[in-house]
Amino acid sequence: MKNRDSELKEAAYQEVEASRETVESDPYRLKHHIMPPVGLLNDPNGFIQWKGIYHLFYQWMPFKTGHGAKFWGHYSSRDLVNWKHEPIALAPSEWYEKDGCYSGSAIAAFDKLHLFYTGNVKDENGDRETYQCLAVSEDGIHFDKKGVVAELPDGYTTHFRDPKVWEHEGKWYMVVGAQTKELVGRAALFSSLDLYNWEYLGDTAGSKTGMLDEFGYMWECPDLFHLNGKDVLIVSPQGLEPDGILYQNVYQSGYFVGELDYKTAKFNHGKFTELDRGFDFYAPQTTVDEKGRRILIAWMSVPDQDEDKHPTIANKWIHTMTFPRKLSIKGEKLVQEPVEELKALRKNEQVHEHIKVVNEEVHMYEAEGSVYELLLEHIKAGDSFKISIKKNAELHYSRRDRLFTLTRISYADGLRESRKCHLAELTKLQVFVDTSSIEIFINDGEEVFTARVFPDAEDRSIVFSSERETVFDLKKWDL
Ligand code: FRU
Repeated sequence: MKNRDSELKEAAYQEVEASRETVESDPYRLKHHIMPPVGLLNDPNGFIQWKGIYHLFYQWMPFKTGHGAKFWGHYSSRDLVNWKHEPIALAPSEWYEKDGCYSGSAIAAFDKLHLFYTGNVKDENGDRETYQCLAVSEDGIHFDKKGVVAELPDGYTTHFRDPKVWEHEGKWYMVVGAQTKELVGRAALFSSLDLYNWEYLGDTAGSKTGMLDEFGYMWECPDLFHLNGKDVLIVSPQGLEPDGILYQNVYQSGYFVGELDYKTAKFNHGKFTELDRGFDFYAPQTTVDEKGRRILIAWMSVPDQDEDKHPTIANKWIHTMTFPRKLSIKGEKLVQEPVEELKALRKNEQVHEHIKVVNEEVHMYEAEGSVYELLLEHIKAGDSFKISIKKNAELHYSRRDRLFTLTRISYADGLRESRKCHLAELTKLQVFVDTSSIEIFINDGEEVFTARVFPDAEDRSIVFSSERETVFDLKKWDL
């Protein structure tokens, strides 16, 4: 009898082969974004540059377009633009992970690549167990499972997962997404001297700690790092109620800027800010690359947010990742810019200087396209400046209300739906349009909107309009 691990991997590869034609025939397959070869992709995992090569693993359910016992799929890249699909890194074959090798992170140490992840186990009644696990690789391709390295501490429910590991002054630290028995979301901290033995240090932050009141019933996918002289905690809290224009998605993803006191294990921080203002952004993960850049990639979706209504399900696949973004801190704000490597995708440059849009609609026939980047610079916005892309996404800036709005046609019910953010001034817009996604960087990454959109395949339209005069310089590249 073959062992469980190779059986599972083989079954997944067979599914890829059997469905290849169906999946690849989908007009909504993206051109430049990371997707599953079949089935469902969710969180980015184990993002790292190791020995020059970027590795990005992903939560993967090969056998259906819903969630379940996840694998770790694996992509690698030399440039963050061209990605190669690698053999499956982890399959849920052992007792401590039989219902999923859930999210986690990677660390290079002792000349080996170490993956930390959550072993998810469910019994016949659906009751969960959770284990923080380790797998080690010498070549970055084949992983040797070392089993459970951290058990569930007292005081938490079994919603305890997504270890993110980093090194600080000769010690390793691990932050884990958690729910206490009082059903509040927390980020739990551990430390280790050898990566195998982990000591529980307590909650570093969470709902009803520090300056936070009630702040969610579960915190998923925490990520804690040092950037530009500050510490940043990124987390995906579940259970925040909509608040004006904030927290409009089913679950949120955002950050706190502060300082981690390594002596007390407490993270002292300011307010929570959503990372992305669009519809589809969750479970981001960061890494520092060999150039010293802090780079973020996120899942371009949100759990339980009409996932079952995605049109790509008909072709046996669902979901994608965002483009990689470089992070920096300006004041108290985390700024996200597309990594400069994406410039390598630019083709057929068009430059249109000093475009003036006054009252009536301007169809930019020469700037139409399917997959492209738009750059609007030196914008002097009139009262109500609009860009409609493929009749499916509409970007709108109201100078009067100081509000930026993204509206799309919902793939769930065909109705228009919007997300908004406050914006004092609009000076620059960088927009990446792929076959079924849009990523909008405002004022060099001061705000970002990410969304899936499913326009008619033939629609290539771009229409500008403005109340009063809007003036800007436009560049456009096919990608
Ligand atoms: C976030 C998440 C994680 C978990 C993984 C399972 O989307 O729920 O908390 O590890 O997905 O796929």
